[in-house]
Amino acid sequence: MQTADRLKKIPPYLFMELRNKINKARAEGKDVISLAIGDPVDPTPQPVIDALAKAAQDPENHRYPTDEEWGMKSFRDAVARWYARRYNVELNPSGEIVGLIGSKEGCHHFAMGVINPGDTVLVTDPGYPGYKPSIWFVDATPHPVPMRAENDFLVDFSDIPSDVAKKASAFYLNYPNNPTGAVATRAFLNDLVAFARDNDIAVCYDNPYSEVVFGVERLSFLSVEGAKDVGVELNSLSKPYNMTGWRIGMACGNPEIVKAIATSKANTDSGVFNAVQYAGIAALDECDADIEQMLERYASRREKVLATLRELGWTYDPPKGAFYLWVPVPEGYTSASFCDFMLEKCAVVLAPGAAYGQYGEGFVRFSLTVEESRLDEALQRMRDQLPKLSFA
Ligand SMILES: Cc1ncc(COP(=O)(O)O)c(C=O)c1O
Repeated sequence: MQTADRLKKIPPYLFMELRNKINKARAEGKDVISLAIGDPVDPTPQPVIDALAKAAQDPENHRYPTDEEWGMKSFRDAVARWYARRYNVELNPSGEIVGLIGSKEGCHHFAMGVINPGDTVLVTDPGYPGYKPSIWFVDATPHPVPMRAENDFLVDFSDIPSDVAKKASAFYLNYPNNPTGAVATRAFLNDLVAFARDNDIAVCYDNPYSEVVFGVERLSFLSVEGAKDVGVELNSLSKPYNMTGWRIGMACGNPEIVKAIATSKANTDSGVFNAVQYAGIAALDECDADIEQMLERYASRREKVLATLRELGWTYDPPKGAFYLWVPVPEGYTSASFCDFMLEKCAVVLAPGAAYGQYGEGFVRFSLTVEESRLDEALQRMRDQLPKLSFA
C-alpha cells in the first residue's frame, strides 16, 4: 500500500519514545511519575460542564454545527467579548473570528490556507513540535529561527538572513512559549509586526498560553498596532480552562487569513459540536475566577519545583510564562542523558530539550500539570536520590 512521501519527513512523535521508556520502567515495577507532558490534570470548571450537559439534551444540537466551519455566532460573540475584556482587543465576530477544534488544528488550517508548496516558513527552534508537520503537509520547508537564553528566548530578528526573510511566506511562533516559558514584551511584538510587514510574511501567532503568566502582563499579539494587517492569533480554551480534551479554540485577526482558515475547515471538518461551543461560551463569559485559581495552583507548583532545584544546586531564574520550566542540564549531561538519568535514579520523566530542536539541547522541560501529591513525591525523590550536581 502506498502512503504519502510527506509522512516520511515526520520524525517519530517526541512522546512516543518517552512512552516506550515509561512502559519499560513500569513493566520493571517502577512507580513512574511523568512531568513530561503539558496536559492539565485539574478539572474543567463546573459552569462549563453544566452548559455542555444542558446543550447535549437539546436535539437541535445533535445536528451539524450551526454556521459549520465559522463556529456559532454566539460563540464568536463570546470570543469577541473575551478579547475585549481580557486583552483590550476589538474583533469583528463576522469575519475576524473563526472557531477551531483547538489551536493545533488552527496551525494546520493556517498552513492549508496560507502556504504554497515550495514556500519557506519560519519556525522557532526550540519550538512546539506541531508546527513542522503542518508545514510539511503542504509541501513547504520549515526554516528554524533560534531562541536563545541570552535573549530571554525571544527571537532575534537579525538571526534571520535577509534572503531567507525575503523569501519566507509565513512565521509560526508562540509566547508565552512552549517549551521555554518565555514571555513576549510589547516592544518585541511591535518588532514582529514590523519584520512581517517589511518582508511580507503572514504571522501565525499561536497563543494558547496567553492566560498563563506569573506576575507579568497578559498579552495578545493583536493588541499591538498593525498586527491584524500581518497575521492571526490562534487561541484555545484547552489550557486556561483545563479543556484539552474538549477540542475548542479560535483563530482571530486578519480577515483574509481567517477566511482562508475557514475555507480549509469547510472542506475538512464541519466545525465544533454545538454543545461544546455552548460550553465554550460559559468558559469565556463566566470563568475568570477559575483562571485565577488555576494560576495560583501553577504558581505554587512552580515555587515548589524551583525550591527543590535551588536546593540541588541549580541557580535558575525562569521566565514568567506557560506551565513549564525549561531547565539547564547539569554539567556532563545532554538533555537526553539527563532524562535517562532522572528516569533511572528517580523514576521521574522529563521532556528532553533536543526533542524541540537543535537549540533545545542543554535543557529539559518540567511540566507543572501534575497532581500535587505526585509532584511532591517526584521532588522528594530528586532530593533523596540525586547526587551533588555541578553547573557550567
Ligand atoms: C504552543 C502550542 N500550540 C498549540 C497547542 C495545542 O493546543 P490545543 O489543545 O488548543 O490544540 C499546544 C499544546 O500543548 C501548544 O503547546
